[in-house]
Amino acid sequence: MEDKRKVPAHVAIIMDGNGRWAKKRGLPRTMGHAQGARVVEQILEDADHMGIRYLTVYAFSTENWSRPGSEVTALMNLLRTYMKTSLAKCARNNVRIRVIGDKTRLDEDLQQAIADLERDTASNTGIQFQIAINYGARDEMMRAIRSLAADAAAGRTDPSALTEEDLSARLDTAGIPDPDLLIRTCGEQRISNFLLWQIAYSELYFTDCAWPDFSKAELEKAVDAYNHRERRYGGLVN
Ligand code: IPE
Ligand code: IPE
Ligand code: MG
Repeated sequence: MEDKRKVPAHVAIIMDGNGRWAKKRGLPRTMGHAQGARVVEQILEDADHMGIRYLTVYAFSTENWSRPGSEVTALMNLLRTYMKTSLAKCARNNVRIRVIGDKTRLDEDLQQAIADLERDTASNTGIQFQIAINYGARDEMMRAIRSLAADAAAGRTDPSALTEEDLSARLDTAGIPDPDLLIRTCGEQRISNFLLWQIAYSELYFTDCAWPDFSKAELEKAVDAYNHRERRYGGLVN
């Protein structure tokens, strides 16, 4: 009998290499980001068709503010456009969108667009799409820890009784299962402060393909590689 391919329920992607992709073509880096944004929309559809239930993408890290102002502005404008135009598409495709990261540092109108989109897609039952903006895993964990500590200081919780689930429930990803597969594009093999708590047992997949060249075929390759992994979670092979 043919062995059926397992589809990971949650795929997370560190979309890297927009700048290098553009440079190779003699284009400004922002053109790489623009092409990268188009690829995100296509991959979201492809992931949905493949049966992936959760897709989480790293769009802007807490460290990316250190880039030149013009590049930060271009990235924020792309995100703004995306937030303001994707509602109709989400409604059509039953996509639920959430933004993870510290939104309070984003411009007011972007925060508003995100809040509107999150609210208007909240009851969609199709693929759940998380976009990480001003996201850093250490920042996310610190915000969660501060909130738990405040509860403890106010006598609302007993610190000695805190569980892993309590911390998970205060993270931006509360209620979302941990990623099964983490993909990073464009050759770098590091995590760059993405989902540190949540990827404890994720399978990692690195490809040389730059994000603007990523495609359904590349996603299928990653899922195929995932199928050849044996997840043991510290136990023994059965
Ligand atoms: C990924 O591409 C997008 C963001 C980090 C916002 P990069 O902009 O990091 O592209 P490279 O790594 O410089 O090629
Ligand atoms: C990680 O890529 C962040 C995003 C993809 C948004 P970077 O390009 O910022 O990471 P480093 O600097 O290579 O670690
Ligand atoms: Mg990069």
